[in-house]
Amino acid sequence: MRRKIIAGNWKMNNTVTDSLELVRKLSVELKDVKDADIVVCPPFTALYSVGQEIEGSNIKLGAQNLFWEEKGAFTGEISAAMLKDVHCEYVIIGHSERRNIFKETNSNVNKKVKAVIGRGLLPIVCVGEKEEERKANKTFDIICAHIQRALAGLSADDLKGLIVAYEPVWAIGTGVNATAQQAQEVHAFIRDLVAKNFGKEPAAGLRIQYGGSVTPQNISSLIKEPDIDGALVGGASLKADSFLQIVKLSLQPGS
Ligand code: PGA
Repeated sequence: MRRKIIAGNWKMNNTVTDSLELVRKLSVELKDVKDADIVVCPPFTALYSVGQEIEGSNIKLGAQNLFWEEKGAFTGEISAAMLKDVHCEYVIIGHSERRNIFKETNSNVNKKVKAVIGRGLLPIVCVGEKEEERKANKTFDIICAHIQRALAGLSADDLKGLIVAYEPVWAIGTGVNATAQQAQEVHAFIRDLVAKNFGKEPAAGLRIQYGGSVTPQNISSLIKEPDIDGALVGGASLKADSFLQIVKLSLQPGS
């Protein structure tokens, strides 16, 4: 049985004060949750303070990005060691906003994944097709390219703890989520692809989150699907109430 993982991607929102206020509410309300990993991904500026605040709690810290080099003259960038230093355990890699706005390529994503493996940080690798790609029946080609190129050169062992987030671009921030059936179909495809490339065991253990307009209203139907192991939540993670509901509904029996 794969352990569920619900992560909040706060994107470029929340000052340190806002972040602390939000995470304090979450840690009180979620203190008894034991059967899932709960992750918050604040902006870089709030990582340290949020990390201090949640120390010893069951909420884990994640970052939204990193650079693959270890150190040096890379103005504006943050390394894996720096994220570890502030107690991050997870890092989102290849989010569609990074790919589309900041022109990150599959090769960049692959370098970032490699920079994280073996450094005590777990990557959340984002993949997903654009609306025009889905309409042109290219969804599986795009997902295949994203997965194979993101994971190129890795061994089955490197996949331990790695998480994939399926985030159709047309569903992000639009209020139009993929249906449970659409998401399940892609999640099953990803698991199958990983089985073909790395073997059955790593594929069976791989956690695949769904992301894209996840809300308390749609989480229950999504999380019931056999290959959906959690959610990567954007907008609805910015309010304690909606994120709390998403976590709680994800853990209901039968989910
Ligand atoms: P959304 O964002 O929940 O606001 O659609 C999800 C994401 O980008 O991870």
